[in-house]
Amino acid sequence: MCGIIAYTGKRQAAGILYEGLTRLEYRGYDSAGIALSGGQRICCVKRAGRVSAIADALTMPGNCGIGHTRWATHGGAEDKNAHPHVCGKFAVVHNGIIENYMRLKAELADMGHVFSSDTDSETAAHLLEAYYRGDLLEAVQKTVRELEGSFALCLLCADYPDRVVCVRQKSPLIVGAGADGMLAASDIPALGACKKIRVLSDGEIALLSPEGAEFFDFSLSSLPAAFTDNAVRSVAVEKGRYAHFMRKEIGEEGRAVRDTARAFDGREGARLAADAGLFSRIYIAACGTAYHSALTGASLLEEALRVPVTAETAGEFCCRRPLLGRDTLVLAVSQSGETADTLAAGRLAKKRGARLAVLTNAGYSTLARLADYRFLTYAGVEVGVAATKTYAAQLAFFYALAAFLRGGRAAFLEKFPAVHKKLLREEGRIRRLAADVASARGVYFIGRGADYPSALEGSLKLREVSYLPGAGYAAGELKHGSIALLDETAVVVAVVTQKRLKEKSKNAVCEVRSRGAKVIAVTPFSDVPADAVLPLPPCPQRYYPLASEVPLQLLAYHTALARGLDPDRPRNLAKSVTVE
Ligand code: G6P
Repeated sequence: MCGIIAYTGKRQAAGILYEGLTRLEYRGYDSAGIALSGGQRICCVKRAGRVSAIADALTMPGNCGIGHTRWATHGGAEDKNAHPHVCGKFAVVHNGIIENYMRLKAELADMGHVFSSDTDSETAAHLLEAYYRGDLLEAVQKTVRELEGSFALCLLCADYPDRVVCVRQKSPLIVGAGADGMLAASDIPALGACKKIRVLSDGEIALLSPEGAEFFDFSLSSLPAAFTDNAVRSVAVEKGRYAHFMRKEIGEEGRAVRDTARAFDGREGARLAADAGLFSRIYIAACGTAYHSALTGASLLEEALRVPVTAETAGEFCCRRPLLGRDTLVLAVSQSGETADTLAAGRLAKKRGARLAVLTNAGYSTLARLADYRFLTYAGVEVGVAATKTYAAQLAFFYALAAFLRGGRAAFLEKFPAVHKKLLREEGRIRRLAADVASARGVYFIGRGADYPSALEGSLKLREVSYLPGAGYAAGELKHGSIALLDETAVVVAVVTQKRLKEKSKNAVCEVRSRGAKVIAVTPFSDVPADAVLPLPPCPQRYYPLASEVPLQLLAYHTALARGLDPDRPRNLAKSVTVE
């Protein structure tokens, strides 16, 4: 959800900013822009479209600048709404939402300011210009005091040609120290070879110069620099022999599951187990794909702990006033650890006296830093916007935690890489089926019990990358209304892995076929009466959600390709949604 980056140092800034933006593009790709300062003026190139749309910015000379890649919130995906926003001596890039921008804009307009975009962000550039009397930090301080909402800002001032000011309030921003200059970015993969990083906290300002950084709070009192080693430094974010990150990352799931199981933090698990008696209820709050892993996790933890465990979408969790207190554990699950709704759920839990456990793929994230119990997935950096290997890793964590709480080990997770290999061998069959799915008018996914979250996630994946309308349903629920959607133009994907529910699931398949819809079964069984089968190798019953997701993800991937779409950059989506 918008990626921002800044550099000041000895090298040409444009190339560094451009390269960093390509690594932040997963946060939004509605427009891109770069501004450089130097020689008393600011030069800016910005345009609607992906980062590649501003390749001409690479010729701009200068050693200090800022860049932006946008996920549109206020104002359409047009050139005029692209960042940086320039006003007088200032250029600003912003991630977040300035909630009081309408009032600020009206006040500034009364003072004679003319706005050239529909964004909330442009108000920050105008406020800076309005408050500037020659002292950069004073103007920044006065500006941030006016802003309400969430904002990570990087800004340039023409009078300070080698300085960048960075501000963080409720949107992520990390400062990195490189060999030849200073960087700041929304996420670590964009900090390139920086050996040292400092994650800004809410209410902090960083003043970057080619030699280093100074840190302040919003009253401009100095703060310690306190850089730490950058553990994510050498991450490989190349596609290698694959055409898309999504396919590459599906191929990495065997390893992600095994690594997450092997690295399960027994000390943190033991702390949680020791406190488990305090909790009379547990909520798991998450969004999107992480929510689907939470549904599986809730069943596993409820069985292991024998207390009620419910999974909720984090946005609704905050809206509906849940029962929270000292006897409650909230487990927030987020690949990025920066999703605004999930952060809000975590903060609400803490405010109301509940304990907060966190599961994330980003140990340095805001969510991780809020946690009373912190757990990590070891999926590695996921670039594809549609989550794949991080979903597998989240499931692996839940299996490992549930087994740990029962006093055992989830031994199957060690064997999963071999199962995963077998699943990938079915890709040819999946590709052929995808050609049919691609021409369906609607694609629906059904499953019962442990297969229900798989149906939801399979459907989300397909919708995300193929734009085909559809939904996931509990197989028994379909007949209570949504079956009206079915005719010969529909495809239904039935996930049938649970022996004790097989006969009921077979009934659902028959009901669907009798309405003319074509059924694809994802199943280890040979007697599901479907039109086509994506076979699953034998697994222990409880682990089928891990296995069934692989053909479902591949089906989504190949359907996107059959429809001529780029699965790595689905329209309208951002990998990390840092606004509520
Ligand atoms: C966005 C992404 C989804 C993702 C969700 C939660 O909506 O498009 O793919 O599942 O955020 O992300 P998180 O980082 O919290 O797991």
